[in-house]
Amino acid sequence: MTATRAGRFITLEGGEGAGKSTQLRRLAARLRGCGLRVVETREPGGSARAEALREVILSGKAKAMGPGGEALLFAAARMDHLDARIRPALARGEWVLSDRFADSTRAYQGALGALPGDLLDALERVTLDGTRPDLTLILDLPAELGMARADARRGGGQADRFESEGLDSHRKLRAAFLDIARADPARCVVIDASASPEMVEAAIWAAAHARFADELTRGAA
Ligand code: TYD
Repeated sequence: MTATRAGRFITLEGGEGAGKSTQLRRLAARLRGCGLRVVETREPGGSARAEALREVILSGKAKAMGPGGEALLFAAARMDHLDARIRPALARGEWVLSDRFADSTRAYQGALGALPGDLLDALERVTLDGTRPDLTLILDLPAELGMARADARRGGGQADRFESEGLDSHRKLRAAFLDIARADPARCVVIDASASPEMVEAAIWAAAHARFADELTRGAA
């Protein structure tokens, strides 16, 4: 009997308009092309209870609770996402791709909301309970470009709770994601997201190959 190998957990992170959702779909397609089973998910959300919390958070209803309160809501959503969706999929040997995960709390509530690092460390430890991404792709681009792309994508639609932050905040976010990558080079790879979608896709695939060469070759065989 051959035991099922645990799947791999990959997260995509970055500021607004970085193209995470497009790139997640493209990466998922490539992995499936290697014969792997892939789950595409997102945060906040990804499970029924976490999606309910997503509505509360992104509507801005929780803004008055402050960054600490918002961080706890993101963490509660994340715990359910991990329990209901991520860990079961990994245990079945599937590859899980998540559009945002814990680094977003560190960047948005930590750097933007000015929550202390030790509080974030403790919250992350409790929330993740040992389930950390195998690879985190940080899609990096200048704040101006990201905001322009996000505006174009929205058309005339209303900005959500975080999209409506100003340029300075988006610059801080960019710096925060780059700090996260510098602090954990074994897990994080920074991808230049200002390039064309095809070039970004190729850079992501190269990073995945560098990390999981054996599995991707075996999967394709
Ligand atoms: P979403 O519509 O998914 O935006 P995006 O396309 O930028 O991923 O909205 C998620 C928003 O929530 C986004 O502005 C980032 C923010 N966020 C946090 O502030 N903290 C978190 O822990 C997470 C997961 C997201």
